[in-house]
Amino acid sequence: MTTPSNPNAGGCPFGHGNPDTAPAQGPAATPGASAQWHDAQLDFSESMSYGDYLSLDPILNAQHPRSTDHNEMLFIIQHQTSELWMKLALFELHAARDAVRADALPPAFKMLARVSRILEQLVQAWSVLATMTPSEYSAMRPSLGSSSGFQSYQYRILEFMLGNKNAAMLGPHAHRPDLYAKVETALHEPSFYDEVVHLLSRRGFAIDPARLARDWTQPTPHDASVEAAWLEVYRNPSEHWELYEMAEELVDLEDAFRQWRFRHVTTVERIIGFKQGTGGTSGAPYLRKMLDVVLFPELWHVRTLL
Ligand code: HEM
Repeated sequence: MTTPSNPNAGGCPFGHGNPDTAPAQGPAATPGASAQWHDAQLDFSESMSYGDYLSLDPILNAQHPRSTDHNEMLFIIQHQTSELWMKLALFELHAARDAVRADALPPAFKMLARVSRILEQLVQAWSVLATMTPSEYSAMRPSLGSSSGFQSYQYRILEFMLGNKNAAMLGPHAHRPDLYAKVETALHEPSFYDEVVHLLSRRGFAIDPARLARDWTQPTPHDASVEAAWLEVYRNPSEHWELYEMAEELVDLEDAFRQWRFRHVTTVERIIGFKQGTGGTSGAPYLRKMLDVVLFPELWHVRTLL
């Protein structure tokens, strides 16, 4: 029987160093000093560091509170991090769409799963913002002026990619032709789900030709031929395994999106009650109405028939 090796040999597993060899103080900060710490590289005057690679200077210097209110920093960082996660979600969704177009479904599943996990992460993030009380928000509300998440162009592209099309939502981007063009492209393109409907057709299901060549600028309609296709898939999963997996990935995604919408409206109600939004809508009532949006209608309807 072998003796278990000392787990602390070479230092604590949590990276605190070996007490036998660690210097009593941190490494000397003097340029040129030959400090050592676990053989780590300590001099980045000639090579790329963590901060260089991640462009941390622009990112960590992009928080510009307009007041001295303590809570404005939370508000800014919460929105900025949400935008970063949305950027990744869009990156993954575009690649997943290309994979579906190329009939490469396993990579698409991997990417869709990542988008769902991103949305779950954003759902959890509401708990941080919910630490802001109505009094705290009211104190910093004047700093926001007319800015609102309603004007998030990445969010609008995400909605459009997921099929919740609405040309009126181009309006807030008219003052930025570069962003307007991106949102407009997403409005005119088939949504991710439209691509999946084409996939159903390529896999031999009889999809109504009108559904395959619909006006992409309109919200996703409920279509009987698409529902019939999903019914067949769910009744015979082993024969249509990839489509079955696609259906469940999409339901996962919409489930997570619904939770994000719900946590948004609940957080909004607890912070601003039923006041009008900074974007000019009725506020919580507008957001509650958005809870009724169904992204992949047939996938929900078909469940009643099973
Ligand atoms: C105290 C925090 C927040 C409040 C009080 C709030 C309030 C609102 C309100 C009232 C609206 C409706 C549009 C309007 O009239 O402004 C809205 C929309 C929106 N908000 Fe928030 N929000 C908050 C935090 C966030 C965060 C952290 C995000 C993350 C990016 C976000 C993203 C959005 C988006 C994308 C919309 C458009 C939703 C749609 O059109 O369906 N909000 N918000």
